Amino acid sequence: MSILFNQVILSDYAKEILNDCINTGHFQADGKYTDKVIRFFHTHLSIEKIVLTTSCSHALEAALWLKNIKQQEEVIMPSFNFPSAPNAVLLHRGLVKFCDISLDTLCPDENDMLNRITPLTKAIIPLNYGGISCDLDLLVNAQSDNREWIIIEDSAQCVFSQYKNRYLGTIGDMGCFSFHGTKNIQSGEGGALILNHPDIPLEKAQNMVQKGTNRHQFIQGQTSFYTWVDVGSSYTPSDLLMALLYSQLLEYPEKLMIREQAFNRYQENLSPYIGYKGFIAMTKIPKYNISNHHLFYIRLDNQSTRNQLMKQLKDRNIDSRFHFMPLHQSPMGQRLGYRLDDFPNSRIASETLLRLPLHNHIQPHEVDYVSESIIDILKEL
Ligand SMILES: Cc1ncc(COP(=O)(O)O)c(C=O)c1O
Repeated sequence: MSILFNQVILSDYAKEILNDCINTGHFQADGKYTDKVIRFFHTHLSIEKIVLTTSCSHALEAALWLKNIKQQEEVIMPSFNFPSAPNAVLLHRGLVKFCDISLDTLCPDENDMLNRITPLTKAIIPLNYGGISCDLDLLVNAQSDNREWIIIEDSAQCVFSQYKNRYLGTIGDMGCFSFHGTKNIQSGEGGALILNHPDIPLEKAQNMVQKGTNRHQFIQGQTSFYTWVDVGSSYTPSDLLMALLYSQLLEYPEKLMIREQAFNRYQENLSPYIGYKGFIAMTKIPKYNISNHHLFYIRLDNQSTRNQLMKQLKDRNIDSRFHFMPLHQSPMGQRLGYRLDDFPNSRIASETLLRLPLHNHIQPHEVDYVSESIIDILKEL
């Protein structure tokens, strides 16, 4: 048996929708399916202000541009991260300030994040990790009314997850989603920017992603021609990709059920073995979250046990993975002046975490095979 880490299989329905889009002959942005995706987010997630982008990385770049980050202004985010958020800051010549994570959630340690705020801080970017979040109210409550610094949720992995009955990505002043091929809902590449900040109008974001033009208003019939009105770039996704995304959104309840069942099965199979042979922890969902079950990980007591386990799983054709390399330890993080021993929890998480196969098509017997293999291998280590 060979167990894939991620698998994408398009349903006949998804192919029908794609074919319909092909038949429209409209492949650029702002077609029928772009509109349907936006309406879906309005109706099902009560998101009023959203623009679709070509990636979460672009959504983060647009968010920092809308906040008007200037040279030397600071943005705080966890080091246990994907490079998109710090890249977005550096592209605006801002200063990247890392913080550490909590080992319970692998999300930012709220106090460490807040303690790093200075008068130069313009934004904090909590990463909602693998379907869950930190205790976001602690961050929101620390904001002053005049919002000297804003919260941009990096919710790349958390579409449809909730915090205290509100969708992740909609709680901070802005939120960013990813629809990359590795995510629960995907269009190969894609993303979205959600706006909640009272002073950032939707129109400004729409112009930004449309090369700084008011083309969106033109398409909506609100102006008779379109022209260059602001600074911007080309961040709008093709309607073909939005057709693919729309089919995934409609099919999501079924996909979520498969993920949730697999997640619960891993938990049931493996929880009796916590404390056994260096297996010390696994994904925990905080009480305040409802997870989209984006991922399931276990943690081992050291890097060597993790690496041996990963290798032996591979020998059994089971694809498990680890991530993230803490960004302060990366070549770029070193160029930014960080020390290797900064942010100890980020290093520990990176060295000891093992992600197990979990995707929209995984079968219960596959989850059982992975779980049994882990226990078998640990017995022999
Ligand atoms: C936390 C986080 N932020 C941002 C990204 C970038 O997303 P995209 O590939 O849509 O740019 C990812 C991708 O995996 C991610 O995990």
